[in-house]
Amino acid sequence: MNKRCIAAGVILATATAAFAHQGVQNPAVKARMDGMSAIAENLKAIGMMARGATEFDAAKARAAAAAIATRAAAVPALFEANESDPMSEARPTIWTSFEDFSAKASVLEGIAVGLSTSIAAPEDLGPAMGSLGASCKSCHSVYRE
Ligand code: HEC
Repeated sequence: MNKRCIAAGVILATATAAFAHQGVQNPAVKARMDGMSAIAENLKAIGMMARGATEFDAAKARAAAAAIATRAAAVPALFEANESDPMSEARPTIWTSFEDFSAKASVLEGIAVGLSTSIAAPEDLGPAMGSLGASCKSCHSVYRE
């Protein structure tokens, strides 16, 4: 193996390590996990501001809420097909109660849409985290292992 090959191998290994959801075989399952991860990343951005770990920026907080709304809107389509994977934490009841599942995604979308225009002050972040977090929990507690 020449040096260039080794370097390429190192880059590949690093990229693989940074790649979330390793071991997921089914691309449809990976896509819905990626959607959830994006929701979580944006929630984290708001949470960091809420804790004062990052500086308050209303535009950034609103943009994170808007991103959550967009991802939440995509949830029913991403989960519609009953796809499985050994790495999946999705409960089978999603597909026997799909209307309820979709309604829970819609609640998250509605909350996030509201926040995408209403966050104006640091004091808004705590309640925002509370309502968003409650929505994640209301779905995970029923439909996620
Ligand atoms: C409508 C239901 C629903 C809502 C609302 C929801 N989730 Fe999920 N979430 C799921 C399901 C189902 C899974 C498991 C998917 C799988 O493993 O196939 C999941 C998985 C995840 C995962 C793991 C993804 C991975 O890499 O395996 C994260 C992180 C996550 N959700 C974050 C959130 C956050 C943060 C919120 C709220 C802002 C939220 N979710 C709201 C249903 C929901």
